[in-house]
Amino acid sequence: MDGATFRAHGHRLVDQLAELLEAIPQGPVTVDQSPSAVRHSLNLTGPLPETGTDAGVLLESTASALFAHSLFNAHPRFFGYITAPPAPIGVLGDFLAAALNANAGAWVLSPAATEIERQTVRWIAELVGCSPESGGLLVSGGNMANLVCFWAARAAASGWNVREEGVAARNGRQLLAYASAETHTWIQKAADLSGIGTSAVRWIPTGPDLRIDLTALRARLDADTAAGGVPFIVVGTAGSVSTGAVDPLVELAALCRERQIWFHVDGAYGGFAACVPDAPGDLRALAEADSVAVDPHKWLYAPLEAGCALVRDPETLRNAFAYHPPYYHFEETVTNYVDYGPQNSRGFRALKVWLALRQAGAAGYRQMIAGDIALSRALAEGVRASEELELVTQGLSITTFRFVPQELRARTAESSVGEYLDRLNRQLLDRLQREGEVFVSNAVVRGRFVLRACIVNFHTGVGDVEEVPSIVTRVGRSVHSLLREEGVEAGGAAAGPPQSG
Ligand SMILES: Cc1ncc(COP(=O)(O)O)c(C=O)c1O
Repeated sequence: MDGATFRAHGHRLVDQLAELLEAIPQGPVTVDQSPSAVRHSLNLTGPLPETGTDAGVLLESTASALFAHSLFNAHPRFFGYITAPPAPIGVLGDFLAAALNANAGAWVLSPAATEIERQTVRWIAELVGCSPESGGLLVSGGNMANLVCFWAARAAASGWNVREEGVAARNGRQLLAYASAETHTWIQKAADLSGIGTSAVRWIPTGPDLRIDLTALRARLDADTAAGGVPFIVVGTAGSVSTGAVDPLVELAALCRERQIWFHVDGAYGGFAACVPDAPGDLRALAEADSVAVDPHKWLYAPLEAGCALVRDPETLRNAFAYHPPYYHFEETVTNYVDYGPQNSRGFRALKVWLALRQAGAAGYRQMIAGDIALSRALAEGVRASEELELVTQGLSITTFRFVPQELRARTAESSVGEYLDRLNRQLLDRLQREGEVFVSNAVVRGRFVLRACIVNFHTGVGDVEEVPSIVTRVGRSVHSLLREEGVEAGGAAAGPPQSG
């Protein structure tokens, strides 16, 4: 592709993207299509073509097809899972990064990219209240950031050369990890991939506030140690995936210091809320952790993918990951990220994050994150005011709630009614996700299936959250009516005539 063609196609694509970003709020969040319909529309069925296609034709048709068949997390009523809209400057940053194609594994291959990543990591540490002397690197997302920290803990805290000898080396003494029952599933992958096995994860129960029960944690540590196990990591969560609960991080830090166990905080979702003045006080304890995972592709609104593993002592990453094969001739006095994580060749992920941090500044992020939290609280108020919705939790920017038909409101403690409400809300979620007016996800809170709206979305306004109760109530009534037409009832109790409206 020559320069003039590249310029023409690039300009055309940027024009299309700008139009799309402007149009997203007017359309649905997503389109309801089967996998085969998507494959058909995008012409994804044939063999690899023998001959090529004109790049302009390809870009034009692919962009249009993608716009017509995608879910838009940049929609102001996208509240599903924890996925943010992309900061436009991050979109342009990724374009620039791809054009440079810096390999940020070694300084010599990426002098500017490596130094930008170092500054990005320092700024992230500063924003969440960790020491700017912390070390770290950017990875693909929250799972990888947690995994990198877990591996660092394994190497630092197991008490033997676990990298060389393996986890089973010490007379069968098992390495053990401790985390609340609300911890994200990354910990299962980490236990599995690090060789300690998922049975080595001690799931500690939570109290009524869904935060880790410290008494239960202490008891489990005592029992395991007495039985010859080796507790090597305690995980606290700063913003749980289901409800945004923040564990008692101050007390966890003190406990880990007392017992000399590595203290890791999963702040993939909530870590950045530490920069907001009225955030939960426990977020101030991130500085006390040995490692912290945060996710710029969540609350810094970086386009996917961008996670960040932070460690208090940068050497712990080198101790967990560095090898020095003879075919690499890298200067030791500079930062070679290949020594700090599992990847060898690495892209220039930092650019999109660094540009967005510079564009918005710390004050801009404080304002956007506080805005998301305020919108979530407003949503909770709207839910509370509705006679057919039940507010279940509100924490950080996550609100959980469920649709409860009025005639069942006084009977939610009955198990058959509980089962019916689970079924009703599961079907309601399915309808909401397919119909595209508002996109929420779900959680299971205290054993009950609930709807979950997580706002990490700088496009969302008060009007968007005000619409949620009426949309959910309208679709909820329709699902309730359909269930009754099918003869499904709560505990055989006739629930009265379907409501109109
Ligand atoms: C608390 C928490 N940890 C880890 C993750 C995993 O992050 P990612 O999806 O970026 O891998 C999530 C994702 O939602 C999360 O909420």
